[in-house]
Amino acid sequence: MPTDTFDLLPHASPTADAIREDILANPGFGQYFTDHMAHVRWTLNDGWHGRRVLPYGPLTLDPAAAVLHYAQEIFEGIKAYRHADGSIWTFRPEKNAERFRRSARRLALPELSDEDFIGSLKALLAQDHPWVPTPKNEADECSLYLRPFMIASESFLGVRPSHEVDYYVIASPAAAYFKGGIEPVSIWLTEHYKRAAPGGTGFAKCGGNYAASLAAQKEASANGCGQVAFLDAVENKWIEELGGMNLFFVYKDGRIATPRLTDTILEGVTRDSVLTLARGEGLTPEERPISIDEWREGAANGEITEVFACGTAAVITPVGELVSEQERIRLAGDNGNPIAKRLRAKLLDLQYGRAEDTHGWLTRL
Ligand code: COI
Repeated sequence: MPTDTFDLLPHASPTADAIREDILANPGFGQYFTDHMAHVRWTLNDGWHGRRVLPYGPLTLDPAAAVLHYAQEIFEGIKAYRHADGSIWTFRPEKNAERFRRSARRLALPELSDEDFIGSLKALLAQDHPWVPTPKNEADECSLYLRPFMIASESFLGVRPSHEVDYYVIASPAAAYFKGGIEPVSIWLTEHYKRAAPGGTGFAKCGGNYAASLAAQKEASANGCGQVAFLDAVENKWIEELGGMNLFFVYKDGRIATPRLTDTILEGVTRDSVLTLARGEGLTPEERPISIDEWREGAANGEITEVFACGTAAVITPVGELVSEQERIRLAGDNGNPIAKRLRAKLLDLQYGRAEDTHGWLTRL
């Protein structure tokens, strides 16, 4: 569906240039929103229709809307990057579109085509392109974070898939997800909570998974940690992922491992990109089960030299320590995380157009 099939509803009065520039100079994460949003409606009878871009603002939802009661909702996270020549690009959007359809199937929501997914990003950016920040230097990871989401909007309290659904994209200028930038973060290992179980929704990007992580995230914050790590729900032994990011382990012999994908792990686009970039850097990527004992022992005996988290929002962020009620797992030597930094620079160089896009990962918005 080309962009011009999105109708533009009366313009929002755009944010004044001086106010927008002020926000872009220090946007934080997820606090400010652009002037417009994209919207497509779905009904059981008519399918997807009513593609439009409208002023950003509150949604009108019936209090009986299914999403408010049964959490029939999915979302995505993807960024728009400004290159040195002013052009705006996004990264592997077809991967997000594909994952959005996988999530939709699991949550019994209608599937959205690549054309509508990517078309909606383009249509929104056609209005809100001044909101894409310009990086100050090569370490600056500022971008416009795009948040497509789909909700069950039918007012009906019976438990069945909604016959009415709304898809939106909103956009928010973003700096580093973690306040400390690429300073290593402390991760909390929760003993009580599980994020996902086999057969459940762990692989889907649905609000419910994030809601299920919040009590553990609260525990993490209370213990001075920026994120929470989850073990598997069956054996309480295998490392799964963080509340909203995948994990990687770097070994001194050049291997780089991440938990293999199961139906309890979210397939990160950054995770997949790191596996490819690592191969190009002469590292040996491995996707396999990794136990908490392996982390504990590898950290102590120096086999594991780096641990890092990755995701669209967090890019690549080193993990300094894993903390639990019982212990504090720290790497034997602090080597300054050279592999995490190298992969991060590779990824950012590609995303910001400073390196040749040999993988064909960029799409112009
Ligand atoms: C993303 O990385 O895009 C996410 O959705 C994770 C969330 C913690 C912001």
